[in-house]
Amino acid sequence: MNKETIQAEPFKIKMVEPIRLIPRSEREARIEEADYNVFGLKPEDVYIDLLTDSGTSAMSDRQWAGLMMGDESYAGSRNFDHLQQTIKELMGFKYVVPTHQGRPAENILTAALIKPGQKVPGNTHFDSTMAHILQKKGVPVNLPIPEAMKTDIYHPFKGNVDIKKLESFLEKEKGNTSFFLMTVTNNTGGGQPVSMGNIRKVREITSKYGIPFFFDAARFAENAYFIKEREEGYADKSIREIVWEMMSYADGCTMSAKKDGLVNMGGFICMNDEGLYEQCCEMLILLEGFITYGGLSGRDLEALAIGLQEVVEEDYLRYRIEQVRYLGSRLMDAGIPIINPTGGHAVYVDAKAFLPHIPQSQFPGQVTAVELYIEAGVRSSEIGAVAFARKDEETGEVVYPELELTRLAIPRRVYTNRHMDVVAEGLERVSRRKESVRGLKITWEPDVLRHFMAKFARL
Ligand code: F0G
Repeated sequence: MNKETIQAEPFKIKMVEPIRLIPRSEREARIEEADYNVFGLKPEDVYIDLLTDSGTSAMSDRQWAGLMMGDESYAGSRNFDHLQQTIKELMGFKYVVPTHQGRPAENILTAALIKPGQKVPGNTHFDSTMAHILQKKGVPVNLPIPEAMKTDIYHPFKGNVDIKKLESFLEKEKGNTSFFLMTVTNNTGGGQPVSMGNIRKVREITSKYGIPFFFDAARFAENAYFIKEREEGYADKSIREIVWEMMSYADGCTMSAKKDGLVNMGGFICMNDEGLYEQCCEMLILLEGFITYGGLSGRDLEALAIGLQEVVEEDYLRYRIEQVRYLGSRLMDAGIPIINPTGGHAVYVDAKAFLPHIPQSQFPGQVTAVELYIEAGVRSSEIGAVAFARKDEETGEVVYPELELTRLAIPRRVYTNRHMDVVAEGLERVSRRKESVRGLKITWEPDVLRHFMAKFARL
């Protein structure tokens, strides 16, 4: 790996979008008007937006040029040929089905593969994936390694699957398992990578039991970079070689290209099985459009084909991972508890440890997001009790998730490290006055996915 220390962002800025920090008194008023839910804030009232890394990337000049080359033919667009060729060269799968983002890809694949009652094991399913599995009457099963739940200890591959648990799970459930899904990197578990060794082992075990193995590949390139950096035997391999090997173990993947596709909208499904491809095509035509555009414009397909080539450039990935690490180390230096090590796309504050005086029933992850906005105009998101607490159907008691996090997701090629300094300074200022910070209570919530729309009041 190139260890030059004088490297900065591997791009220069050609176009800018002004942003503005509104005064603190206005920030206090805006978050109150939004019922203390950051999803209700207007973007012009946000200074630095770390709500998500999804669909928020800055495209390159080559991608923008690609937009002008859109072939908007309904059937047989040449941009689809370019995308298909690019994915084949990068990942090696036989068939590519374009979709407009990640969740239609999940919808179509789960509809094709799951029979009611079947289990779908994985490292940790993302929330939209889980929802699609449940909607097909499947049962999502998460089998992460135990280290994944310990925020303060270092492990190079916290996204790994617990191989022993998987083996005993399949021994029991092989007749009732639909497919295995490996999410790289593991978003819900902190953007943590999965090692090649773990991927290889999962292939061996799933083959032994005859279970198809798919990737949720939303952040496949970031995962490959961590393998190069941390796993023995990969330091001298190119990112393309690593991606190729990762994908060679799988039967296919779903992809939200809004992450490692470096585009604002896009997705796809890949597979090697012809029968599955035909099934997916039928559903695609019903839900998204013809098989050579899948809900996207020709120009979008072109920008994605170019984005997939750029995302595997090592200079880009070094900048990307280093920026996330920079924010993480600034927070750790200030004594703010985060998931260690930092992952590929976000820094996750351990809100239970950050605000120990606020019980999980008063949403410390949400409180951290609200206070950070008030302090520095930075928007983050809660991944904790608001998103994942549920009522036990038998006892009626609320079951809280083990991790209570505030996610600082960093858009790709959008902010500089000076912006990261402002985020860190904002959290440091919250930290200095944290004893006086109060919890929140929910005043209204929808039936499903309540974190997007719930209303809160201060206690
Ligand atoms: N899989 C993973 C691992 C994701 O992180 C996401 C989206 C999806 C699938 C769904 O893709 O949004 O294109 O439909 N994650 C976003 C986030 C929303 O903020 O983490 P989509």
